[in-house]
Amino acid sequence: MDENKVVSATLFLLLLLFCFRIPQAQSQQPYVNNKQLDCENNYNVTDGYVCNGVNKSCLSYLTFKSAPPKYNTPPSIAFLLNSTASLIAEANNISDVDPIPADKLVIVPVTCSCSGNGKYYQHNASYSLKSKDETYFSVANNTYEALTTCQALMAQNPYDMRKLVVGLDLLVPLRCACPTSKQMAAGFNYLLSYLVSEGESIEEIGGKFGVDEQSVKDANELTSDLIFYFTNIMVPLRNQPSKIQNAVPPPSPPPPPPAAVVSPSGDGDSSSSKKWVIVGVAVGAALLVLIGVLVLFFCFYRRRRSELPVATPVLVSDTGATKKSSDFANTTDSWSLSSEGVRYAIDSLTVYKFEELQNATNSFSESNKIKGSVYTASFKGDTAAVKILKGDVSGEINILKRINHTNIIRLSGFCVYKGNTYLVYEFAENGSLDNWLHSNKYENSTTLNWKQRVQIAYDVADVLNYLHNYTNPIHIHKNLNCGNVLLDSNFRAKVSNFGLARAMGNEEEGEFQLTRHVIGTKGYMPPEYLENGVITPKMDVFALGVVILELLSGREAIAGDKNENEQLLSASVVEVLLGDNVREKLRAFMDPTLRNEYPFDLAYSMAQIAKRCVARDLNSRPVTADVFITLSKIHSSTLDWDPSDEYERSGFVSQASMER
Ligand SMILES: *[C@@H]1O[C@H](CO)[C@@H](O)[C@H](O)[C@H]1NC(C)=O
Ligand SMILES: *[C@@H]1O[C@H](CO)[C@@H](O)[C@H](O)[C@H]1NC(C)=O
Ligand SMILES: *[C@@H]1O[C@H](CO)[C@@H](O)[C@H](O)[C@H]1NC(C)=O
Ligand SMILES: *[C@@H]1O[C@H](CO)[C@@H](O)[C@H](O)[C@H]1NC(C)=O
Ligand SMILES: *[C@@H]1O[C@H](CO)[C@@H](O)[C@H](O)[C@H]1NC(C)=O
Ligand SMILES: *[C@@H]1O[C@H](CO)[C@@H](O)[C@H](O)[C@H]1NC(C)=O
Repeated sequence: MDENKVVSATLFLLLLLFCFRIPQAQSQQPYVNNKQLDCENNYNVTDGYVCNGVNKSCLSYLTFKSAPPKYNTPPSIAFLLNSTASLIAEANNISDVDPIPADKLVIVPVTCSCSGNGKYYQHNASYSLKSKDETYFSVANNTYEALTTCQALMAQNPYDMRKLVVGLDLLVPLRCACPTSKQMAAGFNYLLSYLVSEGESIEEIGGKFGVDEQSVKDANELTSDLIFYFTNIMVPLRNQPSKIQNAVPPPSPPPPPPAAVVSPSGDGDSSSSKKWVIVGVAVGAALLVLIGVLVLFFCFYRRRRSELPVATPVLVSDTGATKKSSDFANTTDSWSLSSEGVRYAIDSLTVYKFEELQNATNSFSESNKIKGSVYTASFKGDTAAVKILKGDVSGEINILKRINHTNIIRLSGFCVYKGNTYLVYEFAENGSLDNWLHSNKYENSTTLNWKQRVQIAYDVADVLNYLHNYTNPIHIHKNLNCGNVLLDSNFRAKVSNFGLARAMGNEEEGEFQLTRHVIGTKGYMPPEYLENGVITPKMDVFALGVVILELLSGREAIAGDKNENEQLLSASVVEVLLGDNVREKLRAFMDPTLRNEYPFDLAYSMAQIAKRCVARDLNSRPVTADVFITLSKIHSSTLDWDPSDEYERSGFVSQASMER
């Protein structure tokens, strides 16, 4: 029978095609299918994606449907999935505090790593059980939206499924993976765990990310079109994803790999492989051009870099300034204002006679004393502050001369007299921040409100961002603390006391210095400085984190007795933000004088960024520019916030948390 022959020939051909395709599908990750519903049985595929990628650890992406009321803001989703609010906000082009509409799919960047036994890729999160109705299945499917499976939860938690109780902390292994060598060869650099919605097809899912259907199928070892609602499917990505497009057709279809092209006319294979060759040649040519451009650029850049130090006029000998500013603290008796220092200082600063200062300060009377060796002075009706310092302070003078920022206290002049240097600064009417946060506690006088606190944090971050990124050479304050943050009449911050500040050379890796002379303020100094004398801008980031924590909590950087039971504020925030009942713990942490008149979500974001700033490992701390960006977002959200809203909301919140 002819018909039979044709059919069997077609079948044979199909089989051949199929066999040829198999190598392509190999060593990817099998689709979880519907096996995740069958909690009683363990399948290999439900335990996780196999560790078969090129890298043992990589950046990967999860998707999560916004689930009000609990998990619908970047901070709350980051908390659930152990990601970072600012990264979520960035990946989705949304604000990092505003609620996300229900059911909107959000991209969540996470680090994906091979688990302890090296078998499965996963990203660890932790979840503490909140109600007696929760099961491994409900946590996997409902809370974590199928990003994990009941089988994987059971495999990695020691608790019997019938013995789950409220408060138990579960390790939640979230499904993720790193690309295999095949995928990388095809140009895919990231994998995204996508949550399938009702009625979606593989083609549609691929379309959302500009990936063709076949690549998605290959990534999941799928041979049919059958996928299930509310399961996870792996989508390979060429680039980091921007927010999920709702439109199905990708903006510019990427070059499809050969297997993907099944042209409707049926003569698919030969023409598509030709196409592939052409594409390959084109890509090769483009690469060559790109490499050429890069090489040119690199050479040019190198030249510019090596020219730089010559080209930029350096006003003051940096090394001199650096050495002196760091050493001045212990050179108490042998002082000398270096001639260089005087020369440059004289250019722009007023040089006062000692008698002028005496007149202006009532001979440094007690009534003019502000604090320590700082006095108020009145020069022809203008108020200023005069600080008396011993020894050579040319370092501070030179630094303050070179930098100029509205939130840095301005040095207007100085006087050298009998071994002391008198520095004359602009006057900050409201004194130092620590007085506002720590001293007025028990008087019923005015305290700083939420908006003022956010403004201060923002101003200080602005200063650090300026010092670390916009001065040449860059500067490190090295002694940022609440006592050195002064407040003007509008409660805008003025950062002061640059006595320990350092200029960092602008050599190639000029962001790193070592010292054996560790000085600073306890509670604000990061571990790497205390232990090894490492000086980097991250040192100021740490101190900023502590200042933010003081602004939030009203507590001091160090609590408890001098020697025993010393409590570092930088350490206590970790407990507040970790584990369960974060809401209640954070409320308790906040300064009681704020009387709940603050937007909780913003406070949470502030606490999060502060926590990152005070990370023990300096590499885990964000760079100054990132802190500044986050704080500017919080700052602008705060400007829109109306305190009268908060009463109702806080009432609602405490009610909601009672129900848990
Ligand atoms: C899981 O995989 C192992 C080999 O890796 C195999 O021996 C075992 O039978 C598989 N189990 C199931 C349930 O498929
Ligand atoms: C894998 O690791 C190498 C270096 O070890 C890195 O250059 C590359 O970007 C990594 N690939 C992925 C996908 O993370
Ligand atoms: C991000 O959102 C802003 C407005 O919310 C818009 O102007 C901008 O174009 C968006 N960027 C991207 C890459 O979508
Ligand atoms: C996740 O947790 C498991 C079990 O504790 C551990 O073996 C694994 O190394 C962890 N992975 C990461 C990336 O921390
Ligand atoms: C959160 O993820 C990081 C890796 O990104 C991991 O080291 C850490 O252990 C995770 N935290 C929890 C609570 O699992
Ligand atoms: C899994 O969770 C989703 C969302 O909560 C729900 O729609 C679905 O019915 C759940 N699946 C099962 C089998 O309960």
